[in-house]
Amino acid sequence: MNIQSLLSTLTIEEKAGQLLQLAPFFFIKDLKVEVAGALRALDLSEADIFLAGSVLGIHDAKEMIAVQKKYLQRSRHKIPLMFMADVIHGYETIFPIPIALASSFHPDLAKKAARIAALEAQTAGIHVTFAPMVDVSRDPRWGRVMEGFGEDAYLASCFSCASVEGFQHDGIGKEGNLAACVKHFAAYGAPEAGRDYNTVDMSMHTFYNHYAPPYQAGIKAGAHLVMTAFNTFNGIPATVHQGLLRDILRGQMGFDGVVITDYDALQQVITHGVASELKEAARLAIEAGVDIEMASTAYFRYLKTLIDEGVIPLALLDEAVLRILTLKEKLGLFDNPFKGADALKATQRVRHPDHLATSERIARECTVLLKNDHQVLPLDKTRSIALIGPYVDESSTNGNWSWHGDHRLNETLHHAFARKGHDIVMAKTGNQATDYDRQDIDTLKQADVIIVCAGEQARQSGEARSRTRLDLPDGQETLIKMAKATGKPVVVLLFCGRPLVLKEILKADAVMLCWFLGSRAASAIVDLVNGTFNPSGRLPMTFPQNEGQIPIYYNHLNTGRPYRDERNEYVSKYLDVSNDPQLSFGHGLSYARFNYEDMRLDKEVMAINETLTITVTVTNDSQQAGHEVIQLYIRDLVSLPVRPVKELKGFQKVWFDPAETKSIVFELKAKDLSAFDQQGKPQIEPGTFDVFVGGGSNTTLSRRFVLKDVGIK
Ligand code: BGC
Repeated sequence: MNIQSLLSTLTIEEKAGQLLQLAPFFFIKDLKVEVAGALRALDLSEADIFLAGSVLGIHDAKEMIAVQKKYLQRSRHKIPLMFMADVIHGYETIFPIPIALASSFHPDLAKKAARIAALEAQTAGIHVTFAPMVDVSRDPRWGRVMEGFGEDAYLASCFSCASVEGFQHDGIGKEGNLAACVKHFAAYGAPEAGRDYNTVDMSMHTFYNHYAPPYQAGIKAGAHLVMTAFNTFNGIPATVHQGLLRDILRGQMGFDGVVITDYDALQQVITHGVASELKEAARLAIEAGVDIEMASTAYFRYLKTLIDEGVIPLALLDEAVLRILTLKEKLGLFDNPFKGADALKATQRVRHPDHLATSERIARECTVLLKNDHQVLPLDKTRSIALIGPYVDESSTNGNWSWHGDHRLNETLHHAFARKGHDIVMAKTGNQATDYDRQDIDTLKQADVIIVCAGEQARQSGEARSRTRLDLPDGQETLIKMAKATGKPVVVLLFCGRPLVLKEILKADAVMLCWFLGSRAASAIVDLVNGTFNPSGRLPMTFPQNEGQIPIYYNHLNTGRPYRDERNEYVSKYLDVSNDPQLSFGHGLSYARFNYEDMRLDKEVMAINETLTITVTVTNDSQQAGHEVIQLYIRDLVSLPVRPVKELKGFQKVWFDPAETKSIVFELKAKDLSAFDQQGKPQIEPGTFDVFVGGGSNTTLSRRFVLKDVGIK
């Protein structure tokens, strides 16, 4: 297909149509009837609908084929529609939510999950997924932290890249692969006060060093689309921010794919108070380089007028259409407009037992053992258990953004404990202590261990799910108190989509953070509880002591008055709680015990063109096999601008047999020591650095070296 000559055959209306993406209800089921209803909502004529370029959301192959057929019959130019959907952490086989995937510290798992999601979703005729969401966030009040990869740019970049590679696999032209859309550009994860859609205002230094890298990583991995963010970024809505979209995204980051707005975001430019009417919003967006407008009609209505009036050149529209047609061409839609849509294949492929088994294997690496006093866990199956709390018989463990997944097909914890041969003396659902009577308490006392299955509901995190209080909802903390009062060991299995305030929860003897682990959550969790597998997840976000500490993150700056001397009251601190988090980034326990010793650097002075080799001896000092996540951090001691107290620069998830010792090697190059300046240029500043190795960001095992200003050619 010669895209350029196809472009020249299109009228301006047809070109503008390519930029229009319509929500699913325009095309659902009996197109004629549904279109009529939807038409009223956006005031589009039926002829207008058959000019649209893409569709948001489709249910299955049958529906996709019906829509595409009708479209191709009615449209003059016969350019196939492109189908997009939110396939975030699985299609029908649901995988752990992204923040849980990040907890695995094993990006290859995200790649596997994305690959399977793509294979399944394509059978419905979906071509593009609105994933991965790679918005870094330091604010657990923001409900969408569940959908990202945590607070650290390096970790999130690894997962961004892995996800894009998983979705796109060996090329978007091939059957079974989806085009990935990195979102939301930019800095959507930093809304003021953690309130979704709120203002984002940050220095360019912070942006380039802590928020931009995961977008860049996804683009470098070949993502074909980028979605803009709802928020304003330093005063301008991201969707019409020329500096962000043209200069940074397309210029500095070298992105040459399709930019799509978020849902209705061009309409919202008016609500933001930046444009007084849609026509102005359309002008701003096309000038900023936005190609597809999702679910509003500024482009469709006004681009022609803007061109006719000479306000914008036709070339701007052509540029956008060219990018969209090129994407359709790369997807292979001109050869096969029905690409992927295959009801028979769907029945064979979707929720294939292998996919579900992979989901379970992945889930096993995503829980984080937060606390385990007196080695309550792992729990021998001969020890009797009592199960209490809202998650005892609850199957909705898929988490938000899993709309194709049916949680009713999931096993419950109660069922999984029983199936795996645990001795259950009681299993009773209830949110709080008052749901349990005296007889229940007597039964609880008969159990060897009480397991509280507690947490947020799946719909309490996700889009528009910000919270100011991060404790357990519905009085669930009273369950822990009640269980503790029996004198029995208490284990909490904690479901949530964000870091919570754990103060009361940590009164339990053991706490396992389960996030929302998807289709096979229960089975994976029970196997971790009883030690069939060993937990190996680590926190990708800091857990605060209370909400007042937010934003709190491990890679903060030092300040001129850091807290270190109790006698000096004029230091950076609070009067009521310490500066320490409840649990720090990278924290996570194992049933095994790992010792770090003999950390060595191959040189104390490193030239700028040399590689520094860091070696450390890690021993599994236990009889349990398991993974350890060995993390490497640096600190640049003197730098302008100032650098964080620690920055993650590497990690390795390594398997250890019982009592096994391994020599672990990391390498650092000068570029790994660099930081971005205000203009986004990496700067390497020679000087003294500390390098840390350990099982979490609070490690103190370190060595010092000097980066010398020599070796530059
Ligand atoms: C979300 C996007 C999503 C889009 C389409 C929006 O509300 O912010 O992440 O891709 O809806 O469903």
